[in-house]
Amino acid sequence: MKKTLTILSLMVLFGCSDINKKQSKKTTAKKTIYAVDNHSFAKPNEAVAKHLNLNIKVDFNKKIISGKATYKIEKKATVTKIHFDIKALVIHKVTINNYKDETDFNIVEGDEIHGDDLTITLPKNASAVTIFYETTSKTEALQFLKPEQTAGKEDPFLFTQGQAILTRTWIPIQDSPQIRLTYDATVEVPYNLMAIMSAKNGKQKSQNGMYYFTMKQAISPYLIALAVGDLEYKPLSSRTGVYAEKVTIDAAAFEFEDVEKMIVRAEMLYGKYHWEQYDIVVLPPSFPFGGMENPRLTFATPTIIAGDKSLTTLVAHELAHSWSGNLVTNATWNDFWLNEGFTVYFERRIMEAVYGKEYADMLAVIGRQDLDEGLEGLKHTPNDTKLKLNLDGRNPDDGMTDIAYEKGFLFLKTLEEKVGRPNMDLFLKAYFKEFAFSTITTEKFLNYLNANLLTPNKITFNVEEWVYSPGIPANQIKITSTKLDVVMQVIEKWEKGNIMVEEICDQDWTIQQKIHFIRNIPATISARQLESLDAHCEFTNTTNSYIAMVWFEQVIKHNYHNKHIDKKIEDFLTTVGRRWYVSTIYNALKNNGKLNYARRIYKKARKNYHSVTTNTIDNMLGL
Ligand code: BES
Ligand code: ZN
Repeated sequence: MKKTLTILSLMVLFGCSDINKKQSKKTTAKKTIYAVDNHSFAKPNEAVAKHLNLNIKVDFNKKIISGKATYKIEKKATVTKIHFDIKALVIHKVTINNYKDETDFNIVEGDEIHGDDLTITLPKNASAVTIFYETTSKTEALQFLKPEQTAGKEDPFLFTQGQAILTRTWIPIQDSPQIRLTYDATVEVPYNLMAIMSAKNGKQKSQNGMYYFTMKQAISPYLIALAVGDLEYKPLSSRTGVYAEKVTIDAAAFEFEDVEKMIVRAEMLYGKYHWEQYDIVVLPPSFPFGGMENPRLTFATPTIIAGDKSLTTLVAHELAHSWSGNLVTNATWNDFWLNEGFTVYFERRIMEAVYGKEYADMLAVIGRQDLDEGLEGLKHTPNDTKLKLNLDGRNPDDGMTDIAYEKGFLFLKTLEEKVGRPNMDLFLKAYFKEFAFSTITTEKFLNYLNANLLTPNKITFNVEEWVYSPGIPANQIKITSTKLDVVMQVIEKWEKGNIMVEEICDQDWTIQQKIHFIRNIPATISARQLESLDAHCEFTNTTNSYIAMVWFEQVIKHNYHNKHIDKKIEDFLTTVGRRWYVSTIYNALKNNGKLNYARRIYKKARKNYHSVTTNTIDNMLGL
């Protein structure tokens, strides 16, 4: 700490020249002390990878990736081994410093969650290792799709999903979020397809199927990503654009039109966008998430293309990760709330700046209800409702609940109210600057918060309770939205029989109001009443995926069904693989006496889902 202060004061004295900047960066880089991360076998305090050169070929026939991963490494002089994480990979050989000198390696068997520990023997002079490998049919990160699973239906598709600990299933790597590295890659794909990565991308297909990438900023392993398909590019501004299949590209470009505006407002809030380019790739519907914040290239589900920009909060969310998550990264998965809680807070600040306070308020109220439902689901495991988690021995996915997102948001929102928005913003801007391109534990954040926001402003705040205790502290602020209050009033009238369904459908409501209305349909409303509502509002036939999801959930809860609805639900579950959507629907079926029906649909749908989704649903339906 003292050293940093001295460097800082020197920089102030002599002006912040580039040389000074570089030197101070070097000093901090050398001193990195890695935290304990029980989700990785790497021992980065002994030997750590700093740069990856990936050279791979994608084989769509065998559904594998094969090639080599070369790492520049740094190690303590006395250290004779380096550890990498691998899972379901075949390791052919390992060489040192060049591609010829083979070295011994040993695969120490781990377990179903973490995979195995690839331990490589290092001679004294080792500065690089090359691992020759290929993936297997058990790879969890990769989803190879048949042409019929894409929008164009003519070419296959491949995408990767690294978060949380899946990168090790397609690249042997030190797979801890605190181990940042730069990378470059050579990727060979069938000549008619285009490859793009979370790196500097081309805008056109190559002639021969060879693609070259560089990512010169150090990122965490879970953010290395690849997509291969019949893609096209359309720019949206000088630094933003969209990749999609031909049939989707225009709709995508329209939907994401406001992304430049979002970046401008985000930069005004929390400082420079550090990644030069911001593009979005629209993936096939089996993509298991709404969005994934791969640096420079957000991966997105096609289900957010609603035709009216109504679901683009998701873009604000993934963009916000360019600061919270990608620039300042959770050191371990126990600190996941530092990624997601900050991102939800930031996402809503961006939405407020671009679309106004009323819009952001609606999002916050919907999120508050998500939090209540999340708390209800975790009532028997109260430790999982703490912000700081203990996921030792568990799949980090278990910690990826609404708590990190919405309790994290509520904490920051409550803090904002206590300290005032100007103080909050100054603090957050400084935080992103201070910790840019580094990783952070909850403890480090709390120290920084005390030293830079609370103590200087003489503010007392129950931070410890928010972070280390289960449930929601009593000083939580009340989240309200006038637009959603109106919705609740209509529901009340409907319940009392004081409003006709026609009148409900005639309300000029936003998508968020409709979502809130559907989600809050009381249990007292009968299947007959839902039927008559549907006859007028046509929710079953909606083309908005979010509305469809919440509507199907209600339909199931109220036991309203007919051939048409059943078919719609089945179609939805067999085409969309977004985990949040499909798990909500399967869960509703399970909890409303339709477990066998759920299993029957799942049997058909499962082959279309990514492993992230099948893991969750297998558990849920007891398979
Ligand atoms: N980083 C997450 C997705 C993720 C979380 C992947 C945990 C693997 C493990 C992404 O930023 C996210 O939160 N996506 C949400 C978007 C929503 C909150 C707007 C999603 O996919 O639903
Ligand atoms: Zn997120």
